[in-house]
This record gives sequence, C-alpha cells and structure tokens, in this order.
Amino acid sequence: MMSESRTTWRDSTVYQIYPATFNEHDERRTGIGSIRGITEKLDYLQELGVDAIWVSPFFVSPFQDGGYDIADYTDVDPDLGSLADIEELIREAHERSIKIMIDFIPNHTSDQHRWFQESRQSKDNPKSDWYIWHDGAADADGKPLYDETGNRLPPNNWASVFSLPEQEKRQNGMMPWLGDEDLTPRISSWRWDETRQQFYLASFARFQPDLNWENPEVVNALQETMRFWLDRGVDGFRIDAVNYIAKNPQFDDEETDTSYAEHTGLNPYDQLIRHQSCGYPGNFHERLSMLISVLKEPRYKHRDLRIIFEAYMEEDQLDEINSLDPDYASTFNFGAIDADWSDSNLTARILQLRSHYGNLPRGAVGNQVLGNHDKPRVATRYGLEQARAAAVYSLMLPGNTFIYNGEELGLTDHHEIPEGVRKDPNGFRDPNRTPILWHHAQPNVGFSNAHPEALYLPINPNDRGKEVSKQLHDPRSHLELYRSALALRRLLQPKVFVSRDVEYSPASSRWHEQVAAYGIIGADHRESVVVTNFSDTEHRVTLANFHHGLGKVALSSHAQNPYRHGSQVLFDEGVSVLPYESVVITELR
Ligand code: GLC
Repeated sequence: MMSESRTTWRDSTVYQIYPATFNEHDERRTGIGSIRGITEKLDYLQELGVDAIWVSPFFVSPFQDGGYDIADYTDVDPDLGSLADIEELIREAHERSIKIMIDFIPNHTSDQHRWFQESRQSKDNPKSDWYIWHDGAADADGKPLYDETGNRLPPNNWASVFSLPEQEKRQNGMMPWLGDEDLTPRISSWRWDETRQQFYLASFARFQPDLNWENPEVVNALQETMRFWLDRGVDGFRIDAVNYIAKNPQFDDEETDTSYAEHTGLNPYDQLIRHQSCGYPGNFHERLSMLISVLKEPRYKHRDLRIIFEAYMEEDQLDEINSLDPDYASTFNFGAIDADWSDSNLTARILQLRSHYGNLPRGAVGNQVLGNHDKPRVATRYGLEQARAAAVYSLMLPGNTFIYNGEELGLTDHHEIPEGVRKDPNGFRDPNRTPILWHHAQPNVGFSNAHPEALYLPINPNDRGKEVSKQLHDPRSHLELYRSALALRRLLQPKVFVSRDVEYSPASSRWHEQVAAYGIIGADHRESVVVTNFSDTEHRVTLANFHHGLGKVALSSHAQNPYRHGSQVLFDEGVSVLPYESVVITELR
C-alpha cells in the first residue's frame, strides 16, 4: 500500500542520486551502479531523513554524457536495470514515504535516438524537422560560404556549452598558432552532417542534437514521455538545461561580450552574451508552460507533483519563471553552488539568499543547492569543517534543499583519475562523480563487487575512512550531523525566511563580513535563528534583531563541540560562534 507522504513537495529535502556511481546491487558485478542498487539503499536514505530522491538519467543511452544523452526516453538502460526495476524502486520509495523525481531532458537527445537516426536520413522524411537543420551561411545569392580550410560556414555564431575543453587543449600547447591576445576559439554548436549535407544544432556535445521545439509533434512526443513516467508513479521532474528549449527561430547572432578576458578556467562559450540561442524571451515562458501543463492535467489532479527547472540565468529571469506556476514549478537557486568559502565574499552570498527569498513571488517556494553532478563537491570547495557549517546553514532553509549524493559523507573530488577511464565530454566533472563509499571492509568499499578496474569511475582513495560504515553512529561524523540536521528540520518545519542582521559584541566593523544569520519561522510559529561563522576566528554576536527572551541551542555543526546542544541562550545576549560553526537556536516558550 502506498503510504501518505509526511511532507509535500513544498517542504521537501531532495537527495540527488547519480546512478552510475551510487551503488551496484549485490548480485551483479559490472562496476556500474544499478537501479536495484538504489532500491537496496532506500532504508539508508529513509534513516538519513530525506523526503525525496531525484534520480539522474537512467534511460537508454550511450552514456557519452553520463546519461544526459538519451536514446530512448521510455526505457531503462540495460547497464543500469530494467523498467521493472524502476517500478520496484518507485514502489519501495513510496512505501517509505519517499517521493521520486526523475531527470527529464527536453532540449536534446542522443544522436543514437531513433528520432535523430530517422531525421538525418533525408530532408523530407516524417521526422525530418524534429531536429534543427540548416544549410549554413550563404551570400546574397544564396551561395554557400566557406572558411579558409574549405569547410561550410555555420549559419550563425552560436556556440557549444561544452567549449571548455578547448581551453585545456590550448593550455596543453595544442593551439600554437594563437597569440597572447587571441581568444580561445569557441566550438560552434552547428555540426555538419555528411548524410543530410546540412548542419544540425547541438548546444552541448556533438552527439546531443537539439530537438526542434518549433514542431508541435516534438512537443507532443515529449509531453507524452512525461505522462509515461507520471503514470508509472514518479512524483516530478528535474528538467535539464531548460533555457535551451527557447531559441530565436530566426537564428540571429549572439552579441559578443567585450568584457570577456581570456584567462584560465573561463569557458570560451562565455564570450557570447546569450539571448538568442537560449532563454529567448520570445518563446521561453510559453514553452515552460507547455511542460508544466502536463502536471496539471485532470488525470493527475490528486497527485502532489512538481518540476524543478535547471537554468543558469540571471536572478530576475529566474524570479519570472518562479512566478509562472508556483504550485507546480520552481527553478534551482544556484546562488551558493559556485561560491567558494575562502572567497571572503560572504555578504554577497547572504545577500543572494536574502534576495532569493525576498523576491519569491507569492506562493512560490525557495530552495538551496550546495552541490550537484556538474560542480566540484562542497567539501572540496569549502573544506570539511566549512562544509559542515554550510550543511546546517542550508538544511534549515524553507522550501526545497538539495543534497548531492555523498555530500552527507563529506566526500571530496578525486583529482587523480587516469586519462583512459575519464568519462566527461565537458572535461571537468568526473572528480565529483566517483563512487559512494558504503563499507570499509567490502570490495570496492561496498559500491560494487566487480573487479576494481571495471568500475565506471575509480574510488577516491583520499576519502577512505569516510565510509558509511565508519560514520554511522559516530556522533561527530559528517553523516550524523546530516541526520541530526534533517531530523531538526522535520521538527522545526521552516516555513518563512527572516532576514535580519546580527550585531557583534563588542561592536566592530572589522568583523562585519564574518558572521551571518537568518531566522526561520516554523509551522508552529516558533522562531529559530541559524548563525554561521564564516571565519577562522571565534566571534560573539547578539541576536536581539531577531528575537528577545530565551532560546536553546538545537544544533551545532562543530565536530569538536557537541556539548553545546541543549544549552540555553538569551537572544539579546547572543552566542559565541566557533570558527566555521553554524548554530541553530530555537525560541523557548
Ligand atoms: C545539464 C546537466 C549536465 C549535462 C547537460 C547537458 O546541465 O546537468 O550534466 O551535461 O545538461 O544535458
């Protein structure tokens, strides 16, 4: 029987699972995580205290982009399992009151998808305009234009998001013809197809052709796949790279960014200011609504369904999306995901949080993301102690909080992955996708029973000691901190974000960028304050701006200082916060 969920989507913590490296079920020895491997760990996730899981793509795929290159939307990749396995996962998750969100990728498919295979055959087959095809640049008389090496010129300057590896090639001396002043060339997102003798558009990798959203048949087919999964019981979608579905159908050039400076790490793709190739205002909102509308169909009336859109965009654009249909959809708040702790720009981060919650349209839900499969792990970006503080800081926020698998163990990036086993076409994301460490005494730390060389990505040796088996029941461990924080979150049920300043005691402007706090009002109208010390120095702050009277320390992130728990605090007098500590103080009544 399906049990009632404890929490609605609006308050859920969502745990992201990257299937290939999460867990392979016991009987199998392929070295790749499996759907049944996820089901095996549902008890672990339930005890951790998450409300929902988001499973990254598990669909049929050549896995050239970790599954974000789909060859069949409505079947499971045989390397990961079967449709029956997913059905079992959904059932078992629901029995534990865990919701399940899956990835949905409406912008592109794999070039192995039968739609594309058919589309590329000719200019007049039934799927010929399911993708975005173009003859290329032409002169006034319609004659094709060529570059110096005799290649056809693409229709415009749109560039691939995955242009970053070009930087690396340049750094490795593979572009000797470029002078210091020259910018690293972007990769055009137009790719020439020999069969059809036309360009097709691929905003990401060459093997990920963009679907043609101008064609209603395509939109119908995509909506139909959403129904396919909703009918199998999934509770929502994380919608991938959604701003790319909105393009200018006239293919106008992007403006170039004259402030772009060439230096290490900058993606050549950022040489363009992007308003035509993605997030095109002329059709963006309308297309988002086409996705949302599926969830609102009468047949799903009694379900609690949700969409979270992935779009790296300006905040005001995200605010607009958040107001489209707040009961069904919101966008990821990536304000913290590129931040690094050493960056003393703490105020910027707090301000971002304030504006995120402050600007939420009526009825919309905020959210917070510390990490995902595309970004360095939070313990690597921040440091381990800082990551603990960040966890408490992030898990108390109202709305949705996202946890990337392994974040709860304090896992770090693995930077010594040998060239031959790397998988990421974008070049830099393998280090944060290595296997989860389950058991110190089992083969491959419990991830898989395969030969170590068969693993999809290698185990990170630097994280040995952080296995679940070692952390469980150790009150000072990262994992136990996550469990306590999630339990406290359940208790407090944060509903409202309160933005005020702490006061330093004694007052000194020198410290003003080191400690930050926010308040939350819980379901029972009780107020709590979350104080975070971003510095390596202890500080004393008063919390009179938040509340008066007596409070109690409900949680501290500090590994060495579990004794604070339960101690009483006067909000007017405040607290001392240790270096890199987050403390939660709840109002005592
Ligand atoms: C999203 C995914 C990323 C993927 C890309 C192309 O940004 O998070 O992993 O490579 O879309 O699908």
